[in-house]
Amino acid sequence: MKNKIIIITGASSGVGRALAEGVLQRGGHLVMLTRDAEKTEAVRAELKAKTKSDKIDFIQADFDSFESVRKAAEKFKSKYDRLDILINNAATTNADFLKTENGIELTFAVNHLAPFLLTNLLLDTIKKSAPARIINVASNAHIKIDFDNLNGEKKFDPFLAYKYSKMANILFTFDLAEELRGTGITVNAVHPGVVNTAIYRQITGIQKLFLKIILPFAFTPEKSASYILPLIESEDFAGVSGKFLYKTVPLKIKQKGDLLADRRELRVLSKRLTGLGYL
Ligand SMILES: NC(=O)c1ccc[n+]([C@@H]2O[C@H](COP(=O)([O-])OP(=O)(O)OC[C@H]3O[C@@H](n4cnc5c(N)ncnc54)[C@H](OP(=O)(O)O)[C@@H]3O)[C@@H](O)[C@H]2O)c1
Repeated sequence: MKNKIIIITGASSGVGRALAEGVLQRGGHLVMLTRDAEKTEAVRAELKAKTKSDKIDFIQADFDSFESVRKAAEKFKSKYDRLDILINNAATTNADFLKTENGIELTFAVNHLAPFLLTNLLLDTIKKSAPARIINVASNAHIKIDFDNLNGEKKFDPFLAYKYSKMANILFTFDLAEELRGTGITVNAVHPGVVNTAIYRQITGIQKLFLKIILPFAFTPEKSASYILPLIESEDFAGVSGKFLYKTVPLKIKQKGDLLADRRELRVLSKRLTGLGYL
């Protein structure tokens, strides 16, 4: 990993932050793609003190806004001519039905559309850097997408919105892996495990009680990162692509049958909503 250029989105907290520390310990050049400059500067200072590495850059990107994602991609490309590893990790949960400035339900926009757009905007740079790796942090909490309710049209349920977005991460992974076959770029999705992080702060009601019981037994972010880091650095994963992995082994998708129709529908929709056009 030494001197590899590595973007981690959402590196200011939780799993992303633990991955950032692992990357720096291994000599990688980290680009933290995060939304909160003040918080990121504090995390950057801590990471620097802990790892004794100063190969830490910061590019601001708010995933609520496609404009912000586009600016971040442009900024990255103006500074770097290589991207060896892209880790799409940032995500949110939202108790309330909120829409972005682009009129899209916030969870779907932040968790799927923003990384979809970012990845596509960076793809030419990644292709120039092959062999390269893309890792999408998904979740075992995923469910078949109801495309008629993806934007909360029928009803908004915070868990459902999150689960759709995480299924979108997996479908996008499979789609992109196929598109990039033979290019030297691998694309995999991971379930990080149940990890005690800030992502659960929005949870209310009975689920909050449930979380109070299980979270003390959950992974620490560092433990979770220890299962993801081999996908970034190990030669064992050099040619592995199009997988959904947990603790480095394949995990079953919770959707039966052929995923091709959903993959296609999601791809067309994502291109249209992000302004990347039809395929
Ligand atoms: N924790 C679990 O049990 C669990 C289980 C399965 C999957 N996952 C997945 O693991 C990944 C990491 O989550 P985590 O548990 O580490 O959560 P976390 O600690 O809440 O970290 C989420 C990261 O995403 C960033 N983020 C949130 N909204 C954003 C936005 N609008 N624009 C830009 N960045 C934004 C956060 O930024 P701020 O620091 O500024 O808030 C933070 O850096 C996610 O993809 C999540 O779905 C987690």
